[in-house]
Amino acid sequence: MERSLVLIKPDAMERELAGAIIGRLQGAGLKLIGLKMLHLDDALAGKHYAIHKEKPFFKDLVEYITSTPIVAAAFEGDDAIARIRKLMGATDPSKADAGTIRKDYGLDIQRNATHASDSPENGLIEIANFFKKDELF
Ligand code: CMP
Repeated sequence: MERSLVLIKPDAMERELAGAIIGRLQGAGLKLIGLKMLHLDDALAGKHYAIHKEKPFFKDLVEYITSTPIVAAAFEGDDAIARIRKLMGATDPSKADAGTIRKDYGLDIQRNATHASDSPENGLIEIANFFKKDELF
């Protein structure tokens, strides 16, 4: 069993797509084990995206992800990391396969509708950044 954090990002929130995206993951058999809406502050945004701190787009990324409330979800399932990443498609929506969430809903490489964890280890770390133990079911 693996776990992944999923974020519904500001561009998707502004277009009321949270339910559609969560529904696609649930419809594919991933189990929803945690769900909340929150407005990230700079500290949590910086912690979540720490790996990108030296990237030229980091400042813009933090401004963007803190610009509106977002939805954070925790999903669980066999091979959940790879399955969710496949359902989401490439980071850049213009390069994502047809039928993926980012192809259907992403706007550009930053405003790409969703975030998902990239490894089982990061799944656990990222979920712990957003959820207390008693918020997971
Ligand atoms: P995400 O999967 O959340 O992980 C890091 C995020 O940084 C990514 O989705 C995009 O929102 C953003 N990102 C990645 N590459 C770029 C880029 N080249 N320019 C701007 N934003 C980017």
